[in-house]
Amino acid sequence: MARFLIPLESSPRETRVSATPETIKKFIDLGCEVFVEDGAGILAGFSNESFSKAGAQLVSVGDEDIWNKTDVLLCVQKPNEKFIKFLKQGSFLIGLLAPYRNNSLSECLKENKLSALALELLPRISRAQSSDALSSQANISGYKAVLLAASALDRYFPMLMTAAGTVQPAKVIVLGAGVAGLQAVATAKRLGAVVYVSDIRPAVKEQVESLGARFIDPPEITEKPSESGGYARQVSEEFLMAQRQKLIDQLIEADVVICTAQVPGKKAPRLIDEEMLDKMRYGSVVVDLAVEQGGNCYGTKPRETILRNGVNLIGGSDLPCSVPNHASALYSRNLLALINPLITNGELIINTDDELIDGSLISQDGEIRFPEVLSSGGED
Ligand code: NAI
Repeated sequence: MARFLIPLESSPRETRVSATPETIKKFIDLGCEVFVEDGAGILAGFSNESFSKAGAQLVSVGDEDIWNKTDVLLCVQKPNEKFIKFLKQGSFLIGLLAPYRNNSLSECLKENKLSALALELLPRISRAQSSDALSSQANISGYKAVLLAASALDRYFPMLMTAAGTVQPAKVIVLGAGVAGLQAVATAKRLGAVVYVSDIRPAVKEQVESLGARFIDPPEITEKPSESGGYARQVSEEFLMAQRQKLIDQLIEADVVICTAQVPGKKAPRLIDEEMLDKMRYGSVVVDLAVEQGGNCYGTKPRETILRNGVNLIGGSDLPCSVPNHASALYSRNLLALINPLITNGELIINTDDELIDGSLISQDGEIRFPEVLSSGGED
């Protein structure tokens, strides 16, 4: 019988939990056993009692016996390595493990002969949609980024006709129209803003227009941006220069910019430089969701709000953690959808014939499967 451990997350500022009473009940119905660390769900609005009622056993991770009994550790973020080392050989770690250039994770998995699945590497095929944790969490980031911008902005979002005259709608620019960007577009539109979008993947134009936003075409230079598996590939500095040039006129008139442009495993493209920021209007707001990857906008810092020449720069990190109840509910369903097909009669078998598992299993019993991803030698 597979035994799962749901820990209290050890990363600073993490508020989510990797299982909820709903998913725990399903694991138990599948014949598994579930241990939940005391207080694991408190910050996400799930009490110890709700976990017990669903059939989980409340445990303390200070109890050595729990580590010997655990077969699968379900986490949101990579646990502190001192905890990973407690896992017995052959156990299975699943979560958002931040695999890119993560030598220390690679060493830790090798040393302790662990299997590990990094949700960041899940292939983006249709069948993966219900397991796609990057998408469920990016959706929340896009929504929350717009709410943060609206509350920091010195203007209304919607057009209003009042007795004191007409108020023009806010102009919002969304950079990058992946999952977070499209949710930002939809949220800003619902609040009544006029929305413009820049992306370099051609498929995006139609999606953006169907949401009622206007698409800013990529610059016309010989280099054509390419994509692989639904993701944009990194473009050259020459391309980015041309793209920044194209964005300047839009930025001068913008009230809000939501930055979501990213290339997986690489430094985020710099789309707003210092000179462009100087041209933005006093009172405007930039929320940078790419801030942890170096930022789309000059001067943004993780978790900080900086007032620079009258422009509010908001470093939008950890936004899913500010909506922890729904973020956990969706994340835990992603995990259940991924793991469910691996469980037969309560036993979990890691099946690399499954395309989703094959693409995201970074270690099998300590053997690193994607050394090129985990090694720190890769360029930005
Ligand atoms: P992401 O977070 O890696 O990137 C966000 C956006 O930034 C992308 O749309 C990308 O084209 C854009 N970008 C990159 N460089 C840029 C630049 N220089 N200027 C402007 N924009 C730039 O991507 P995300 O949101 O994780 O997913 C991207 C796409 O993957 C989705 O839109 C979808 O097509 C596909 N996808 C497929 C899924 C599935 O089939 N299971 C699930 C989720 C996404």
